[in-house]
Parts: sequence; C-alpha cells; structure tokens
Amino acid sequence: MLYSDLMHKAKKPDEDVTVRGPRGYFGMLAVDPKQQGTGPGRTMVTAAEDYFREHGCDSIEIDVLSLRPDLLLFYCRLGYSEIGTHPAPLVRALKPGLECHAIIVSKTL
Ligand SMILES: CC(C)(COP(=O)(O)OP(=O)(O)OC[C@H]1O[C@@H](n2cnc3c(N)ncnc32)[C@H](O)[C@@H]1OP(=O)(O)O)[C@@H](O)C(=O)NCCC(=O)NCCS
Repeated sequence: MLYSDLMHKAKKPDEDVTVRGPRGYFGMLAVDPKQQGTGPGRTMVTAAEDYFREHGCDSIEIDVLSLRPDLLLFYCRLGYSEIGTHPAPLVRALKPGLECHAIIVSKTL
C-alpha cells in the first residue's frame, strides 16, 4: 500500500507545503529508493525549514502515519518530537484489524 494512497486526496499537491499562521506544514516527502540513505531527505527537510523561517513561522509540524514507525525515527533524527495524534485522513478502508492514526511531530524553528 502506497503512503500517497492513504493520504487525503482533497489536499492539492501544492498544499503539501503550507504556511498556517505561525506554523509551517509539509507532507508527502519521498526520495527515490535508489537515493535513500544518501542525504536528500535531510536536504529537503532543511529546505522546508528555511522556507518556513523566511515566511515567519516559529515551528513546523508534520503528520506521520502510525503504520510507519520508521518515519518517526527519521524525523526524530532530524530534531522533531511527538506532540500529539489525530485520526488519519484515510481515503480507503484498511484491512480488518489494522489501526492507523496520524502522529504529529513538531520542531521549533
Ligand atoms: C524517509 C525518507 C524521506 C528519508 O529520506 P532519505 O534521503 O533516505 O534520508 P537521509 O539520507 O537524508 O537521512 C537523514 C538522516 O536520517 C536517518 N534516517 C533515514 N531514514 C531513516 C529511517 N527509516 N529510520 C531511521 N533513521 C533514518 C539517516 O541515517 C540520516 O541520519 P544521519 O545523517 O544522522 O546519519 C526516504 O527514505 C523515503 O522517501 N522513504 C519512502 C517514502 C516515504 O515513506 N515517505 C514518507 C512520507 S512523509
């Protein structure tokens, strides 16, 4: 199951990087499998942080699906910490018995 299939398609692609008052939001980060582990993920997150600083944000928030605990480790490595949860905006039902929620990670800029 693709991550993008799980996310709410009501969001336009250009809303994947969004300034919401003092908070910046971004999502749908993905690196070519051949390049993973060689730095592009960190480079893109750093670029997003710079963009939000320039637009007056003092913090950044990202939703991570609970089905992807590996992503939590990635964002923790980049200085993010968990601040809460909310229901995941899923576009289709999960397999019976599978639970998924969104974990909000945040970083002060
Ligand atoms: C998760 C993802 C964005 C990370 O990008 P990346 O380019 O592979 O990561 P980087 O090489 O920049 O790694 C940055 C740091 O995070 C660490 N890291 C990367 N992936 C990690 C993982 N899955 N778990 C723990 N740490 C991880 C690296 O070791 C590195 O740490 P270091 O520089 O201190 O040694 C990328 O692997 C990816 O696209 N995955 C598949 C798509 C996906 O699930 N996207 C998430 C949607 S939000």
